[in-house]
Amino acid sequence: MSSGVESNNPEFRKLNIQISDFTSSLHYDRRLYKQDIAGSLAHVSMLGKQGIIPNEEARQIKSGLHSILTEIEEGTFPWRTELEDIHMNIERRLFDKLGPVAGKLHTGRSRNDQIALDLRMYVKESCEGITKRLDLLQKTLLELAETHIQTIIPGYTHLQRAQPVLLSHHFLAYFEMFQRDKIRYERVKDSADVMPLGSGALAGLPYPIDREYVAKKLDFSSISENSMDAVSDRDFLLDFHSATATCGIHISRLSEELVLWSSEEFSFITMGDDYTTGSSIMPQKRNPDFAELARGKTGRLIGNLVALLTVLKGLPLTYNRDLQEDKESFFDSDDTIVAILDIFSGMLASLHVNEENTHLATEKGLLLATDLADYLVAKGLTFRKSHTIVSKLTDYVLEHHKTFSELTLSEYQEFSNEFDSEVFKITPETSIENRQTYGGTATSMVSDSIVRAHKRLKNTKLN
Ligand code: ARG
Repeated sequence: MSSGVESNNPEFRKLNIQISDFTSSLHYDRRLYKQDIAGSLAHVSMLGKQGIIPNEEARQIKSGLHSILTEIEEGTFPWRTELEDIHMNIERRLFDKLGPVAGKLHTGRSRNDQIALDLRMYVKESCEGITKRLDLLQKTLLELAETHIQTIIPGYTHLQRAQPVLLSHHFLAYFEMFQRDKIRYERVKDSADVMPLGSGALAGLPYPIDREYVAKKLDFSSISENSMDAVSDRDFLLDFHSATATCGIHISRLSEELVLWSSEEFSFITMGDDYTTGSSIMPQKRNPDFAELARGKTGRLIGNLVALLTVLKGLPLTYNRDLQEDKESFFDSDDTIVAILDIFSGMLASLHVNEENTHLATEKGLLLATDLADYLVAKGLTFRKSHTIVSKLTDYVLEHHKTFSELTLSEYQEFSNEFDSEVFKITPETSIENRQTYGGTATSMVSDSIVRAHKRLKNTKLN
């Protein structure tokens, strides 16, 4: 054996301390204490039931674990940073309390299947918490949709004013995105809902364990099929990151619209004072910081997905210590999406819509161009022909700094004889009411959609 040159060198002794810092995960995996203890309780009950350890010892270990849980929750647990992780800390404490019998807890278990279990339990709970917050966000959007069922705004394509739409319709578009997010989180929960304990370090165990019993105790729907896969699988975390990044993108798109709409250029909305800040040198400013931060934090959610993909890429079977790097990015994404969702409903509820400006925006633009083309189609022209006519009409209007409603009938008729006085009846309101297709912006369609959205919110089966 090599003696190692480091032994006599004080610089290397310092290095040793850094080495244990480098391998330690305690400062973040202590968050898993509840899951870790719940997993141990189920495991030790099973060991007792199967006669792998005496029932009396199982009972002692369980009461030791309960008292450790209390210590952690009351803040009296003596954390030992020199012990690498949450699992070792709990096991050592159990030893302090019970003596050698504590060592029996880890019979038929490895930290490899233990950490996989803890994470899966944590992810399942996280999904539930996020889904509840998404529900609240959807409720807020529904309220906004109900309040603004008569408000017309320009709908945009290419960020160019395109056709009039109800503001409610716009808000309900986000309701759909968040509905899909909830479905996504439900799938994440399903992918985490597989119980890995009993896989051992990688190859299974030489004890007569009862995995189904542990799964049932811990509320898992199934047990893992392959022990090698079970200790190295982090797909459920990838699914979590992917759902969270997607949800973040929805939040970010909405944030972007709120930022735009509250700018002086749009002036469609004003955000509640609690959700804007002033500038230190420009007294006139009310900056939409909350929406901006939500948009910015989405970058982290995407980054965390890529970070885990990169950790997993190229890992040989089975457990590799690289996998310890799965946790910080996961906790970060979980905390970030929760923080964003927690402020977002309140921020939306604080919105004030400047109806005068939204109205003006629909009057001033050329939003009714498609309706004019449709009008000519109703007179028997082909859509292509009427499109050409209205294009020319649009050029004329722009050149003369007018709006369609300011044109005289004879001006219209210079472009087509099919125009008659009925053309003056085309308004943003008629444009909206004509769009009666399912999923369209006509008031009756949007009202029906609101009714359905309420039902969908109550329905536990997502669609
Ligand atoms: N702290 C480790 C992790 O998070 C726990 C599993 C350790 N397993 C091992 N064989 N060193 O992945």
